Amino acid sequence: MLFDLRPKDNKVNLFDREDELSRIIDYVSRLNVPITIVLGLRRVGKSSLILVALKELNMPAIYIDLRKFEEHQYLSYRDFILELQRNINELTGRFPKLINFLKGISGVSIMGNQVLFSWKSSARASLAQLLDALNDWASDGVIIVLDEAQELIKARGFNILPTLAYAYDNLRRIRFIVSGSKMGLLYRFLRIKDPGSPLFGRAMGTIELTPFTREQAIEFLRRGFSELNIEFRDYDEVYGRLGGIPGWLTYFGLKYYESRDLGKAINEVINYAAALIRREFDNFLIDKQSAKDRYLAIMRMMSNECVGWGEVKRGLEAMIGMGISDSRISEYLRQLLDSSWVIKVNDKYCPAEPLIGAAFKA
Ligand SMILES: Nc1ncnc2c1ncn2[C@@H]1O[C@H](COP(=O)(O)OP(=O)(O)O)[C@@H](O)[C@H]1O
Ligand SMILES: [Mg+2]
Repeated sequence: MLFDLRPKDNKVNLFDREDELSRIIDYVSRLNVPITIVLGLRRVGKSSLILVALKELNMPAIYIDLRKFEEHQYLSYRDFILELQRNINELTGRFPKLINFLKGISGVSIMGNQVLFSWKSSARASLAQLLDALNDWASDGVIIVLDEAQELIKARGFNILPTLAYAYDNLRRIRFIVSGSKMGLLYRFLRIKDPGSPLFGRAMGTIELTPFTREQAIEFLRRGFSELNIEFRDYDEVYGRLGGIPGWLTYFGLKYYESRDLGKAINEVINYAAALIRREFDNFLIDKQSAKDRYLAIMRMMSNECVGWGEVKRGLEAMIGMGISDSRISEYLRQLLDSSWVIKVNDKYCPAEPLIGAAFKA
C-alpha cells in the first residue's frame, strides 16, 4: 500500500524513482563503486530507495540505522559497536558460516551462535579486522548501509573514516551505501574535498532524491487513493499546501482515508509536521544553546517568504538591539544550510520545504 507510513521495502510499493533505483543498483553491482551516497531531505524516501535496492540486489547486507542517535549529543564507540553487533548477528543468523570468519578477531567473542563485540578501550573490536573478515567471507559481495551517516560526525573516541578509506582501497567485495538528509553535514563528515582526509579524492556514486514535482505528487496521491477505492479530486490544493515531500503526502493519504475531510486532513498533516520538525530543530540546537533564539528568529523570518542576507542581519540586530558581526550571520546561515533546514534560491534563503516554513509560523 502506497500510504503505508513505514519506509517501503518492496518495488511494488515504491512510487516512481525508477531512475534512482536503477542507478543505485548499477553503482553497487555492475559498476562496483565502493561508496554510493544517497542524498535528500528528511522523508523524501532515501531509506525506502535503499531498502528496495537491497531487495532487488539480493546480496547480504548490514543496515546501520544512525538516525536513532540523532537525539544524542555524541556517539560513543559502545553505541556504534552494539548497533553493529545487532546487525552482524542478524547476518550470522542467515549465514552461519560467517561465524568461522569472525573467530579470532581481537575483541570479538563467540558464545554459541552469538557474536559479541567488546568496546573496552584496551580490547576493542577492530573495525578494520571485522571488515577484512566480511570481505573474505562474502564471495559475491556484501553491502554495508550507513543510514543518516552524518550522525557519525558526533562520534567521540573513534573515527570510522580511516576504516572507510581502508575498505575503499583494499576490500573489493564490500560496498557502502551512505545516506544523509543533512547534506552539508554529510560532506563535512566525509571530507572528500579535504586533502588531509582519508577519503580525499575518492570517486563515489551520488544519487540525490528530490521532492516529488506537482505531477508526481498528484499521480502518487491518485494511485494511493485508487488502491483504497477512494474518490479524490483536490490534488492541487494538497500539493499547494503540503508540497512534494513523499512522507507528508503519505501521511496526508492516511489521514484523509480516516476522516474523508480535506481541510481536517491537511491540518492534521501540518500540525503533525510542525511538532516533528520543531523537535528535530531542537536536536539541531543541542550544541547551539547560546544562539538558540537567533536560529529560531531566522527560521521565523523566512517562514512567510524567502529573505536576503541583509534582512537576516537587520532582523537579528533589531531583535537583540546590538550589532552582530557579518561572520556570525554567515555562520548561522551556513549551519542552517548544512543541516538542510534552509536552501538558497537566487541569493535568498528559504525554508527547505513548505512544511518547515509552516512549522515556524507564529
Ligand atoms: N517513492 C516512494 N513511494 C512510496 N512511498 C514513499 C516513497 N518515498 C517515500 N515514501 C514514504 O514516505 C515516508 C518517508 O520515506 P523514507 O524512506 O523513510 O524517507 P527518508 O529515509 O528519506 O527520511 C515513508 O512513509 C515512505 O513510505
Ligand atoms: Mg531514512
